[in-house]
Amino acid sequence: MQSGLTASATALFGRGQTTATSFDSHIEVLIDEPLGTILPTVYGHFTEHLGGVIYDGIWVGEGSKTPNTGGVRTALVEALRRIHAPVIRWPGGCFADSYDWKDGVGPRGQRPRRTNFWVDDPDAKRLRDGVQLYEDNSFGTNEFVRFCRLSGAEPYLAANLRSLPPLEFDHWVEYCNSPAGSTMLAELRAKDGAPEPFNVRYWGIGNESWGCGGNFLPQDYATEFRRFTSWVPSYGVDLAFIASGPNVDDWDWSSRFFEEMLGRRRYFPLNWWGWSVHHYAENLSRGRTDEWIARKGDALQFESVEYYELLREADRMEGIIIGQWNVMGQFDRKHRVKLVVDEYGPWYRPGTQIDPTHILGQQLTMRDAVATALTLDTFNRHPEKVGMAACAQLINCLNALFLAHADRFIVTPNFYVFETYAAHQGAQAVRAEFAAPDVTYDRDGNPAHFWGLNGSASLRGKDLTLTVVNPHLTQQRATEVTVHGAHIASSAAVVLAHSAIHAHNTFEQPDAVQPRNMPLPPAQGEQARFTFPPASVTRLTLGLT
Ligand code: AHR
Repeated sequence: MQSGLTASATALFGRGQTTATSFDSHIEVLIDEPLGTILPTVYGHFTEHLGGVIYDGIWVGEGSKTPNTGGVRTALVEALRRIHAPVIRWPGGCFADSYDWKDGVGPRGQRPRRTNFWVDDPDAKRLRDGVQLYEDNSFGTNEFVRFCRLSGAEPYLAANLRSLPPLEFDHWVEYCNSPAGSTMLAELRAKDGAPEPFNVRYWGIGNESWGCGGNFLPQDYATEFRRFTSWVPSYGVDLAFIASGPNVDDWDWSSRFFEEMLGRRRYFPLNWWGWSVHHYAENLSRGRTDEWIARKGDALQFESVEYYELLREADRMEGIIIGQWNVMGQFDRKHRVKLVVDEYGPWYRPGTQIDPTHILGQQLTMRDAVATALTLDTFNRHPEKVGMAACAQLINCLNALFLAHADRFIVTPNFYVFETYAAHQGAQAVRAEFAAPDVTYDRDGNPAHFWGLNGSASLRGKDLTLTVVNPHLTQQRATEVTVHGAHIASSAAVVLAHSAIHAHNTFEQPDAVQPRNMPLPPAQGEQARFTFPPASVTRLTLGLT
């Protein structure tokens, strides 16, 4: 059985098993044990001037034959509305710390051409020219905010801390948020087509400042963070600053930064809201190599061991969230600062991108849908800790929800995960405990284990949303679901699964992977039954009385 269950949960499962011997798994939902509100911003997205994300992905240009709304791909904004995309991060990533926001405002035809941050990436070597290497800045602040508004999302801007001074940051805030007609930059914004302020709330202060964002020491980054966040004009907006936090489980970066901010010379910037953390599931080498490319797997060609290893890598998220939260709490005792997981997803070696210009582009299979779902469940289980997250990246890159080239556009299995899980946004997370036989798989001649069933639950009024991942490649899980203290009056299930774990959508077969509604046997009192197919992502919606 799944390890790590609390004593009380084990007792609950013990009771359940005595009444239903035909089940191999049990889920106990404790609606009287609220965990906190799942902020919609946890379902956010990330976009960067990288490969096919902006150009060919979001921005097709006003003159394009591809259906567009003022240059923005119309199919994309319609799809983002379908999943209630709450927030979108831009312009990077590493690109952010090489970006001068002034290059992306003013008349589009007069904007400067600049070298893109990614020009020297090994995955860019196949390209000789083009906007992926030499950025023409036709997509700038106005275009991005318009894209957000069309999609129904809030903008989250990442400021350049490595190569621009704090005054430039102040000016970007002024360009975005100063009242109509109040300043020269407000007038410039008006000339760009937006007289009214954008009221941008979320601002990242640098990106990966331990690496591409300047290779800072945490103490030095803290000094910069203080400079950048002191006395920024608010223009009546409740600004939310997000500091550039650790890579994965780098506790030292967090500890030294927080100590510098809140230790002996305590300084808590008024609008300090978030601490970013990045985690890519990217090392499938099982200890054979640490080399950045060699340790990665392939997006489409993989054995079952690589499937489970990818899930294991993605599942490190829970330990990262808990560990980083504990480090932060040593200095930020009231936990005023929330975690912002603004980059996550699988990262495979190059080779499956749908167009050569798509640097870090890759295909996404059912495996990635399972990994994404278990990550979102992890966020849902920690609503008091995770204030925001951003899937990396939205389109044509890494953990994309969409693939597009010219006028062709499809959704990946990940899109359906976000659509299925949207019901959690803004709902009250409640405790749910899962018990199922562990998965056992062969890891280079040794048995390895992974949990058998996991997920998250949330309540909105009388509607309970229970999302569940069954990671097992071949075994279904006959499961009894008990909602303690409630009567289940109605039930419905949506399942994302496929007989082949390598299944993915292509331009030729755009609907190869799709969710489907599945019938449930009638619930009895506080109990429902459901059989979770192998390698599946499921949402149960239970109407309670
Ligand atoms: O998402 C690709 C890159 O990964 C981002 O630019 C960077 O922040 C991270 O290292």
